Parts: sequence; structure tokens; C-alpha cells
Amino acid sequence: MSKPVNESPQLWQARAHAKVNLHLGVGEARADGFHELATVFQSLDVHDRVNYRWGEGCAVEVTGNHAKGVPASTENLAWRAVELVAQNLMLPAAGTLTMEKNIPAAGGMAGGSADAAAALLLANQALSKEFGREPLSTERLYELAAELGSDVPFTLMGGTALGRGRGELLTPMLSRGRYIWAIITNAEGLSTPSVFRKLDELRAAGRGSTPHLDTEAVGQALVGGNPRELAAVMHNDLQPAALSLRPDLRKILETGEAAGALKGIVSGSGPTCAFLCEDEETAQEVVAQVCADNRGTRGLVTRGPATGATLV
Ligand code: C5P
Repeated sequence: MSKPVNESPQLWQARAHAKVNLHLGVGEARADGFHELATVFQSLDVHDRVNYRWGEGCAVEVTGNHAKGVPASTENLAWRAVELVAQNLMLPAAGTLTMEKNIPAAGGMAGGSADAAAALLLANQALSKEFGREPLSTERLYELAAELGSDVPFTLMGGTALGRGRGELLTPMLSRGRYIWAIITNAEGLSTPSVFRKLDELRAAGRGSTPHLDTEAVGQALVGGNPRELAAVMHNDLQPAALSLRPDLRKILETGEAAGALKGIVSGSGPTCAFLCEDEETAQEVVAQVCADNRGTRGLVTRGPATGATLV
């Protein structure tokens, strides 16, 4: 049995950043049930704070603005990340993991994935230091990230990237400038599998969007660095399915654009809506107007691109 090196284990801290999909092209369902994607991810400044300390026993704590509905137990995907790292280092999975949630849960912003990415880094640092082991390689951490979920590798990497496969095969993309977002979250979440299923249904009935797997226009707009150009080409194949399940999102998109946003899209599988804005003032105005007109909504203003999960 391995023994920890330190008498009093250190507290390790990390930031876990949200993402938005600037382009989300969804191909056909594969034999494994996942859909082939061509997506462009951008990480956002808004982040959860994730802490981990090695110790006997297992504890998972969730606090913060967006804690509602997030499992404060070993069911949490971030705890699964600790277990995977421990298993790979051939150590027992134990300790205390805490998450301060600022990223809306079940919202299509990869908050759960980001926490899991941060937990991979934290557990790798903490366990290797406490037990005097060689940490897992970055390459191995990315493999574990892909095992945890389709968005976990990107939330580990951050910045701007093209995602292929089920979203886990990443290529960094050149991006100039900073982009200002008004993010509108919803009291009621939307399950990702149900949105993908709805898209399949719509397509089978000849009503869903045809797959938009070409990301070139978004790539060019990002090189140009002009938010107006980016707004003109942002696209989400899951949007018709999300709107079909949640018709209330249509009014949110309309209100936000009427309030001055360059463009509003459903973020990932929703129900969060992301509005690209020319400046901070407009973004604040979008938040104020959408929240005044739509019950159960909350808003925040954030910028991208940001980093991926980062130890602090
Ligand atoms: O990988 P992750 O656990 O985040 O995926 C959640 C669900 O979203 C999957 O079980 C699947 O129903 C759907 N999904 C998909 N195609 C993808 C990514 C996710 O169908 N590329």
C-alpha cells in the first residue's frame, strides 16, 4: 500500500472555464450512438473554481451561484476524473473535491466537463506530489479527458479549436481579437442526449437542418478578428432541435437581437443562449432586456477566448 509523503496534504486549486460553440455542425448518428461533429469551440472567461486536497475518505462539495442541480457526491463527473487519475497512478481515489459553480449547469456551456478537466489536472498534481510519483503525461490526460466526455478535452485545452469526431479530436485555430458575449441562462435545463435525438427525429421527417460540416467561414472570420464578420457566419445545427423542444428560446433570441446583439445562437445543446455583442455596454443591455422580458432567465457578460483548465 502506498503511503503519502506529506503529513498535511496541500490544497490544490484550479480554474475551469466555460465554452461556447461558434459553429456546431452535426453529422449523422454513428454506430456508437454519438454524432460526427465539425465544431469550433471558444473558451470563455467565466469559470468555476475547483479545489482538491488528498485525504482519507471521499467528499464532494458544490457551492456558488449555479450550484443547483449539480451532484454534490461521487456521482459528479469531476469525481470520476479523480478516480481515473488515481487508477492510472495505481493509487486509491480519495480526498476532498470542491466546486464553486459560476457556469450555468446543464446549459450547453460545458460546465460539468470543465470541472472534470480541472479535476484531472488537480488530481494529477496532488496525487503525484503526495505519493512521490511521476505525474501522468499531458497526452494521457487528454486520453482520460476523452473517456470522460466529448467536451472534456476542449475544456482542458481552451483557446479556440476545431473539434472533429465526437468533439474530442482537437486542432487549435488562429483567432484574433477578443469577443464579448451576453450569456442568458435558464432556470430549466435541457438534456444533451434529448436534443441530439430530436435532431435525428427532425431529419428523419425531412425537417432538420442538413449537416453544416464546413467550418471555413468561421475560421476566416476569426483570422479577421471582426465580431461583425463572425456574427454573420455563426451557426448551430442543434438549434432547430433545441427550439423544437423549448419554443420559449425563440423569444429570448429575438429579444436579445432586438436589444442590439450582433447575433444570438443557442449555445451547444442549450438552453443557454449566447449573444455576440460589439461592446460591453450593449452586452449589459442585452442581459437587462432579455431578463426583464423572459421569466426564469439570468444573464452574465463574459469574453473569449480564454484559457483551458488552469492550476492557480
Ligand atoms: O460525451 P458526452 O457525455 O458529453 O455526451 C452526452 C450525450 O450527448 C451522448 O450520450 C450523446 O447522446 C450526445 N452526443 C452525441 N454526439 C456527440 C456528442 C454528444 O450524440 N458528438
